[in-house]
Amino acid sequence: MAKKSVWTDNRFWQRSAAWITGFSAVLLIWLTFDSIGQISMGSDADLKNGITKRVPGPTVINYKITYEMSTKRGHEVPIIGGNDGKGMSLFQEKETFFGRDDWSEEEAGALLHLGKLGSQTKNCMNCHTLLGNGAYYAPDLTKSWLDPAWEKEGPMQAMTNPSDENGNLLPWSKEQAMAEFLMHPSTYPTHARMMPNLGITYEEAKGIVAFLKHMSSIDTNGFPRNFGKMKGAVHGK
Ligand code: HEC
Repeated sequence: MAKKSVWTDNRFWQRSAAWITGFSAVLLIWLTFDSIGQISMGSDADLKNGITKRVPGPTVINYKITYEMSTKRGHEVPIIGGNDGKGMSLFQEKETFFGRDDWSEEEAGALLHLGKLGSQTKNCMNCHTLLGNGAYYAPDLTKSWLDPAWEKEGPMQAMTNPSDENGNLLPWSKEQAMAEFLMHPSTYPTHARMMPNLGITYEEAKGIVAFLKHMSSIDTNGFPRNFGKMKGAVHGK
């Protein structure tokens, strides 16, 4: 009797399938637990002790955040509170957020929570992308806090800056500019598509801006790759 080849043996394939399914299940469970550590939010103590977390704690809103090219990693990384010269965050340089740089962990957390709820109820993702989820009708918001258009010399800050009765510009900041835009986007048309008014209140706007600032501090391995608006970014100026 001719010997049956192993490749045409049903039992061989059944056993292989069972082993591969079992192995993949174990691997997936292990990877899930492995990434929980990477994506869990850091704390105020981490920031104060200079411990880098992929998702920093809420009090990161008290710090200056920049986006800088890391030659080691080949893409930009968020730098929090100054660069140590080797491409790592120093967690030292602070920056006021709505006039304060001492938001406590509880206060900052409550602000972020309000902003997250606001972004969900107003469905920003219907038009924008946040951390890879959403639409591309409007600009990606993952790093929008770092868009130079909102900086002192930037057009969005200039456009939203109110003046006093004599026509002199009032003191204005990036977070005020963003909040003002979010409350009345159709008052500030640009050459791009117009964002409609969504009935966002000042308190909600503050929360949403905190949410955007926190999101920009998350190390997303250089994504979104194509967001060329940032200073120092691959396609930026
Ligand atoms: C119906 C679509 C739509 C929705 C919903 C929407 N936006 Fe927009 N948004 C736009 C468009 C279009 C622009 C571009 C406007 C421009 O540049 O003149 C924009 C611009 C922006 C900008 C400026 C982007 C930059 O260049 O930095 C921010 C910030 C922003 N939106 C935040 C939000 C947030 C937060 C929400 C949810 C609370 C939201 N948007 C909901 C359409 C939308």
